[in-house]
Amino acid sequence: MKFLFIILRLLSPEVAHSISLNSLKLIHRLGLIRIIASKNLGSPDQYRLDDLVFKNRLGIAAGLDKNGDFIDSLGALGFGFIEVGTITPLAQVGNPKPRIFRVFKENAIINRLGFNNKGIDYLVNKLKTRNYKGVVGVNIGANKESKGNKRIADYVKCFNKVYEFSDYITINISSPNTPDLRDLHNKENISELLRSIDNQKKLFNEDKPVFLKISPDESSETLKTIIDAVQEFSISGLIVSNTTIDKSLLKDTSFINESGGLSGEPIFHKSTQLIHSIKKIDPSIPIIGVGGVIDKNGFIKKLDAGADLVQIYTGFILRGPNIISELLD
Ligand SMILES: Cc1cc2nc3c(=O)[nH]c(=O)nc-3n(C[C@H](O)[C@H](O)[C@H](O)COP(=O)(O)O)c2cc1C
Repeated sequence: MKFLFIILRLLSPEVAHSISLNSLKLIHRLGLIRIIASKNLGSPDQYRLDDLVFKNRLGIAAGLDKNGDFIDSLGALGFGFIEVGTITPLAQVGNPKPRIFRVFKENAIINRLGFNNKGIDYLVNKLKTRNYKGVVGVNIGANKESKGNKRIADYVKCFNKVYEFSDYITINISSPNTPDLRDLHNKENISELLRSIDNQKKLFNEDKPVFLKISPDESSETLKTIIDAVQEFSISGLIVSNTTIDKSLLKDTSFINESGGLSGEPIFHKSTQLIHSIKKIDPSIPIIGVGGVIDKNGFIKKLDAGADLVQIYTGFILRGPNIISELLD
């Protein structure tokens, strides 16, 4: 396994990503996934949110499986839940390459992918044909070309299309790589967006959880606005947080001018502090904590800060499937 990781580190991040996930899929198809999966498949540490039962508290964060191509194989690794996306109504290629930078020494990644994805219809098909019986959330966003009200229409379109086929939905307003997307944290915008989602939700008979994924870079005033909006509209909880644009968290200053979002160990403190701040204002809001968990200590600290569930992305990329057993066992 170690040897494989050395090879993958030598490849470009996107090639390594594709090889790793496709190998995982093949191993799963061959019925060999048990060799690398966490043994903790029946963890007693279940979490219940309304009617939804998460078999354990560890999930894979959005962005790793944007199009739902790897739901079954990721599910078989032992995660308690999988979040796919971010997906937009129309397929888009994202920003020019290179757009992912690994900072191995600091267990960090900078990415400026820009919601590259195959579009909502492709994902819906994958959701319909999945075998994985665990919790699958879908993270939705707006196309880059959509401006003003068209942006809200994009969220509503994705929401409608995935509602029936997902266990929860995440409204992602926090990617730093789609121009002006983070403006949706502002009072007027967030109300308009969540009101539109609320109205759509009322049209369905079943009540499914809706999460809002937020940025770690907002002011305390904006945080208050977000919490007010969660309380006003039928938002089940917050995903805290997306990547940060603050590169000064990296010791290696050569990345300071690289645009994009920083993830991994350097953002652990910032995103965990945000959970503390939210819990201080409203302890009742369910939180999925994500940002910088690369070992068991980080996992426990996220839960101690008040996260009900935890997601990982960078830790999984840098450490591989072994991290799942380490965090859960
Ligand atoms: C390469 C890459 C792509 C990402 N894509 C998305 C995305 O499409 N949607 C999203 O909500 N978050 C995305 N994220 C953010 C992660 O879901 C997560 O919030 C963030 O990386 C912090 O967690 P981590 O430190 O465990 O990586 C992405 C992160 C990375 C590194």
